[in-house]
Amino acid sequence: MHVQVMDHPLIQHKITLMRKKETGSKDFRNLLEEITMLMGYEITRDLPLENVAIETPVATMTGKQISGKKLGIVPVLRAGLGMVQGMLNLIPMAKVGHIGLYRDPQTLEPVEYYCKLPDVENRDFIIVDPMLATGGSSVAAIQMLKDKGVKNIRFMCIIAAPEGVERMTKAHPDVDLYIGALDDHLNEQKYIVPGLGDAGDRIFGTK
Ligand code: PRP
Ligand code: URA
Repeated sequence: MHVQVMDHPLIQHKITLMRKKETGSKDFRNLLEEITMLMGYEITRDLPLENVAIETPVATMTGKQISGKKLGIVPVLRAGLGMVQGMLNLIPMAKVGHIGLYRDPQTLEPVEYYCKLPDVENRDFIIVDPMLATGGSSVAAIQMLKDKGVKNIRFMCIIAAPEGVERMTKAHPDVDLYIGALDDHLNEQKYIVPGLGDAGDRIFGTK
């Protein structure tokens, strides 16, 4: 598994702003979208290009354009929704699937409640979720895509805990993992420390 912590100064700066407890939902959402775009820029670095003949106002030339590679963005509900627009700003032609998972408050294991994907044939997928804590949700989300026959999957999160990264690398060594910040540990409630709290609640203002 390829694990990359994207420690670009702009990403680090914006994650710090997101973490602050006084940052409200509107700013939190804007920062999440901006960080997603910065990370998405790096993740899409190897997208295949093709030549295209164009005319500028001055001359004809051979330009480059993204080739017809089929891409899917899959947010893990709810918090992953906050990363969709950032990815679509970069790749407007991508299709969007949704996977619904929540952590059972007793077992802290993921429970599936929704799955709707675009046609998976020859499509590469990027799963987005701001938080990778125990790794239960991300491991389950990736397995759901694999069960539908998806071969090429990347996973992108803003903050990860070492415990989650380890679980992911064991369960899905073939999936590339892109992280904005690697934090210290999980607390007893399996929240990331120092983290940013509950990402879904901070995006949607539910607590
Ligand atoms: C959060 C987060 C991840 C999950 C990470 O979702 O968005 O999906 O927790 O934790 P894990 O790595 O231990 O599985 P949550 O279950 O709080 O649901 P929500 O997005 O609907 O708030
Ligand atoms: N989910 C969150 O939203 N935050 C955490 O710290 C862990 C799981």
